[in-house]
Formats: sequence, C-alpha cells, structure tokens
Amino acid sequence: MKALFEPNSIAVVGASAEERKIGHIMFRNLIASGFEGELYPINPKAPEILGHKAYATLTAVPNPIDLAIITVPSTFVPSVMEDAGKKGIKDVIIITAGFKELGKEGAHLEKQIGEIGKKYGIRILGPNCMGIINAHHHMNATFTNIYPKAGPVAISSQSGAVCSSMLDWATKSKVGFSKFVSTGNKVDIDEADLMNYLRDDDQTKVIGMYIEGANRGKAFMRAALKTSRQKPIIVLKSGRTSCGSKAASSHTGALSGSDKVYDAAFRQSGIMRVNTIDEMFDLLQVFANMPLPKGDGLAIVTNAGGHGVMAADACSDYGLTLAQFSKETIDKLKAYLPGEANIYNPVDVLGDATAARYEFAIKTVMEDPNVHCIAVLLSPLDTVDISAVANLVSSFAGQVPIPIVAAFVGGHKTSKGIDALREANIPNYESPDKAIRALGAMVKYKKMKEEINDTIILTVEGDKERVREVLDKVHAEGRTSLSESEGKEILKAYGVGVPAEVTARTAEDAAKAAAKIGFPVVLKIDSSDIAHKSDVGGVVVGAASEEAVKNDFELMMSKVASRVPGAKLNGVTVCQMVKGKEVLVGMTRDEQFGPVITFGLGGVFVEIMKDVSQRIAPLTLYNVESMIKSIKSYPILTGARGGKMADVHSLKEALVRISQIAIDFPEISELEVNPVMVGDEGKGCYAVDALVTVRRMN
Ligand code: COA
Repeated sequence: MKALFEPNSIAVVGASAEERKIGHIMFRNLIASGFEGELYPINPKAPEILGHKAYATLTAVPNPIDLAIITVPSTFVPSVMEDAGKKGIKDVIIITAGFKELGKEGAHLEKQIGEIGKKYGIRILGPNCMGIINAHHHMNATFTNIYPKAGPVAISSQSGAVCSSMLDWATKSKVGFSKFVSTGNKVDIDEADLMNYLRDDDQTKVIGMYIEGANRGKAFMRAALKTSRQKPIIVLKSGRTSCGSKAASSHTGALSGSDKVYDAAFRQSGIMRVNTIDEMFDLLQVFANMPLPKGDGLAIVTNAGGHGVMAADACSDYGLTLAQFSKETIDKLKAYLPGEANIYNPVDVLGDATAARYEFAIKTVMEDPNVHCIAVLLSPLDTVDISAVANLVSSFAGQVPIPIVAAFVGGHKTSKGIDALREANIPNYESPDKAIRALGAMVKYKKMKEEINDTIILTVEGDKERVREVLDKVHAEGRTSLSESEGKEILKAYGVGVPAEVTARTAEDAAKAAAKIGFPVVLKIDSSDIAHKSDVGGVVVGAASEEAVKNDFELMMSKVASRVPGAKLNGVTVCQMVKGKEVLVGMTRDEQFGPVITFGLGGVFVEIMKDVSQRIAPLTLYNVESMIKSIKSYPILTGARGGKMADVHSLKEALVRISQIAIDFPEISELEVNPVMVGDEGKGCYAVDALVTVRRMN
C-alpha cells in the first residue's frame, strides 16, 4: 500500500474543467497541496485541466501511474477499473458514491469492482470515500480544501462527514496529521489493512479511527493487537445503542455486530474505545504530544481551589492517584509558597499567583519521584497573567520526561493563553475533568500494553472423537438442541467437571446409586417429555439417606405422573449434590469475531444482575484472569464478608476448556453452563446444567 500513501504519479479519472465538480476539486487540491510527482487528468473531452495535459483514458497515458483516483459516475467505474488493471496500476481510490449503501443493485456493482480489483491485484480504497491526505508527502487527495499540517496523528474514518469534522478540528487545535484516510464502503482496504500499514509508519505516533463496523473481525483484532503493542489506537465506534446501530447499517451498509462483542474485541486487542468525538480529540492530543507516564501518580498545580478539587475527584474515575509528595517536596513548597497556599496535592498557588510561582511549584513537584504526570489548572482571575503562565507551561513542551497537560478553564479571557499552548503542542482541556481523563488514558494504555504482551494462547486437548459421536447423533436425528446429558457428555470429554449421576428405574436402585455417590443427593425425573422438571415436582434437593431417596423416588414418580399425564417416565436420575458459588459460563458465536465467551456471577440471576464479562476465544491467561476479575461481584469469589475463597483456579480451567470446545467444533452455535458451581479452594467446579445448540447440517 506504499503507492497509495506515497505515489510518484497520480491520475484523476473524471478530472473536469468545471470548478464545482468533485473531479476538478480533487485535481486542484493535489496541485494546491504541493504534490511533487506527476499528475494526469483523465477526461475524454478536455485537452487540458488546470495546466496539465489531459488524456482520454488511463491507458492513453504514456508514463507509469502509481495511483488512480476515480471520480466518474458509478456505472462507469467498472470500465475505468478494467483500464487501471490493463495499465498496471496497483492502487485506486474510488470517490464515487452509489454502491452498497444504496441497496441490492449498488451492492452488485460494488462486488463487481471488487472482483476486477482482485483480478488485476489492485488495492482499492472506497468506494464512497473522501480520499487520502498524506501531509508528509504534500498530498491532498481528497475533495476538501482543509489541509492539516504534517504531524504525528493518523486518522481513518468510515464516514466522510466525520472526516471533515476531524480535519476542521485539527486546523483549530493545531494538531498535525501523518495520514488521513476516508475508508468509505471498504470493498477492499479496511481498518485491518490500515493498522498493518500504520504500525511501521515512522511518521505516525497515534492512530484514531471512526468505525461503524468491522468487516473482518479476526483480521481486525490481529492487526490491532500487533499495532497497539507499538502505538496507541483510539477508536470511536458508533452504533452503541440499538438505534445507533440501525443508523450505522443504513449509512454504509455495514454489519455493525453486537456492540458488547466490539467492547470485548477492542479490550483484548489493546484498543482504547471512546464514546464521543471530543473525547477522541482530547486523547489524540495528549498521545500525539506527550511521553507516556511511568506510573499513575498525578500532581495538580492550580490557582483555584475549586478546579483542584474537581481534578482530584476525577482521579479515581480515570485510574490516576493523587501523588503523595515526599517530605523534601513539601519542605521546598512550604519554604517558597505563601503561608496560605496549599502545599499538599493539589498544590494551590493561590489567586494572585504569578507565572514565577507556577514555575516554582511545577518544577518542584516534577522532581518528586512519586509524580508521574502533571495537570496545570488556571482560572482567569484578574490577578493572573494568563499569557505569562501559558508561555511558562509551553516552555516545558518536549523538554521534560513526564506528561504535562493544562486546563485553562474559561473561554474568552483564556483564549489567548490557549492559543499559545496549542502552538507549543501542550494539550489544553476545557475542564479539569477532561484533562484528568486524558492523562488517565495514557496510564490505561501503558497498563494495557503490558497486558497485551501476553501472547500465549491457552489450549487443552479434549476427546474430540467422543464429542463427534454425540454431535453426529444429534445431526442424524435432525435436531439442533442437545439434551442436558448430551451437553454434559461434551463437557466431560473436555475435562469439565460434571456431578456424578446415575439413572435409576426403581426406588431400590436409586437408593443404591445414592449410597455409592455419597449423601446428600439430588433427584431429577428422567423424561424427555418434560422440559421444566421443577415446575412439576420433578426435582428434589438434599435427599440425605437411603430411606429418604426411596420415599422421594416413589413420591416424585406419582406426583409427576399425575401432573403430566401421558408423559413417558424412565425413572429418576440420582445426582451428586455439589456446593459452591453459582456462576455462568456461556458461548455464543459472533459472525465477525467468532466464539464469544461470557462469564458472570449469579447463576440463574445473571440476567437481572447483568454483571458479566466477555472475551473472544481463543484466550490467553491474561484474558481469562481479567475476565474473572473484571466483574463487579468478583470479591464474592475471593471470600468477601468472611466467606471462603472459591476455587478460581478450576474456574479458569473450565473457561479455557469451554472455549476450546467452541474452537474445535464450529458447528456448536451456543453453549451455556448455568450454573457452574465453584467449590471452595481445592474443591473444583462442576457444570450442573448444560445447554448446547448446534447449526443444522445439510
Ligand atoms: N473517463 C474519464 N472521464 C470521464 C469518464 C470516463 N470513463 N466518464 C465521465 N467522465 C468525465 C465526465 O465527462 C466529466 O467531465 P466534464 O465535466 O469535463 O464533462 C467528469 O468525468 C465527471 O463526470 P460527471 O458525469 O460530470 O459526474 P459528476 O462530476 O457530476 O459526478 C461523482 C461524479 C463521482 C462525483 C458522483 O457520481 C458521485 O459519486 N458523487 C458523490 C461523491 C461522494 O459523496 N463520495 C463520498 C464522499 S464521503
């Protein structure tokens, strides 16, 4: 894709002499941005466009062409693509709209151009996109004349409108772009390709992406994981709510997928997700301009107590801690600052603070080993020289090893100071909260980076043949649902603990089986005609002696027979009674990302509590541990309020084993074990129930 970003020659097909037309604007922008290579306008009628000799077709150009930009109506695009192939062009940007976003016919046309691209080995950006800017290559290959300065931020956006907003923001906030890509309908090049390219792009320090959906979930995750180990990726994904999702799919025809699955995919591949465009801007600024902090200790220097308190409040929300100053720092601050100043964190340099006082406080806290990042807050009091403080803070840009951000809070009076900060690449935020959020994102990324370096995928060997037998029988009988015992057979074959159970036909047999399993036991009616056993008196818990089992057997058989007349009763299943904390482990299969493993505490109440975490299989040890620890009720497993520590180790194993089943048998579309009983430490965990659904095989 190098020629896409750094072509030596570009042809614009549909370049027109008419100023209002997109083909004209594209060509004009390429010239205006100072593109240093060859430019060829392609137009069947015009002899020249903007001083450049025009050619009727791509094939008529006598010299090689690295990149073709197509701006002709959609019906002509396939023939232009054929010309591009014949000419040996390897990269094409299709600006033209009117493809899959318009429905069936457009989708057909889009498929056609994709196939032509594959036939000739052409990489295609778009269609329905705004193009590319590479400010380091003097190339504005878009039809917007907002041309950002060269810098460290790479942006890709699936929406042209969001592209325009980002460019406009960049101009105002003086943030420089390395690459700017409008992906459009993504018939070929998508975010995975872009991340793979930008990962090794030395001019890119941080990547921001706006997406509505990923076309290739697994490729997206692979590319993101590799890339985020090297540079931060910030993603704004729309379609968080079902309304948003609907709008997203009608926008570019994207398959938005379940938003929760995206959350899991982003987390596992080291992507930082933001929810609003201004959060995206806020984070891009800090990552583009500041070094990563070495820890989470924050120092706040402020001329207004209120802003300091707000910043301190925000710390815990965004994963920072208020740094505990060393005695040396406190002594120094005490010696120099007025007696009324607060010398503990937040440092309040008071309303009448001069730039010199700010300077002393900032330099002093910066030397404290517990301080890893600094927020400088300013309220535009009449006593403060805003420009002088701005110049002071600006003087730290690029000179210090820890991140410094500012929140000059106000609007009118602060604007001059903010301009100076921007000019110096010091991120300024409109509120203390936002400044802390930006610094918190850096700390989060740093932690995430350590975590995503865990590359060892956990695997287990299961008895595949046994599972195959079970599934073949289900397919042969034309079923898609497995019985509980079939589901448990599958779990057992992969080493997931299942309570011992025996089906008894007589009360005598039941008592013998119970004695062998060990008391107390659970009795369950065995009948394929009864789905909800407990509703009809078909479950007894805690039968504690042979006598009790015999009585319960007789009682259950007659009770169920009278409540469900005609049901075929095979007898009673005698089950080992297991104790422990109830959790749920489930698997659903996502079209884009594959098996999604869900974990939650609460067993049957899990839907009410909604305290679940998800990860996409296969899992690393880190994934498994973080998925267990990230639920709110995790302390219940570790012995909160005097309870015993649960066997978290065997729970981890169960998660890996269930995820392995999902990987080994793609025909299993859903698997739910609810509850899994997690015993006390060392006591193991047991799948008490099993619900398995398979895809219909033809
Ligand atoms: N080869 C070369 N030039 C060709 C051609 C071909 N096969 N077919 C047509 N042209 C020329 C036309 O003659 C015209 O030049 P002219 O002004 O000298 O006559 C030029 O290409 C443009 O064609 P025209 O029919 O005038 O189309 P247009 O400029 O009105 O619209 C698009 C073309 C691509 C801009 C339009 O179809 C479109 O898709 N617009 C939406 C773009 C968009 O929003 N993209 C997504 C952004 S996020």
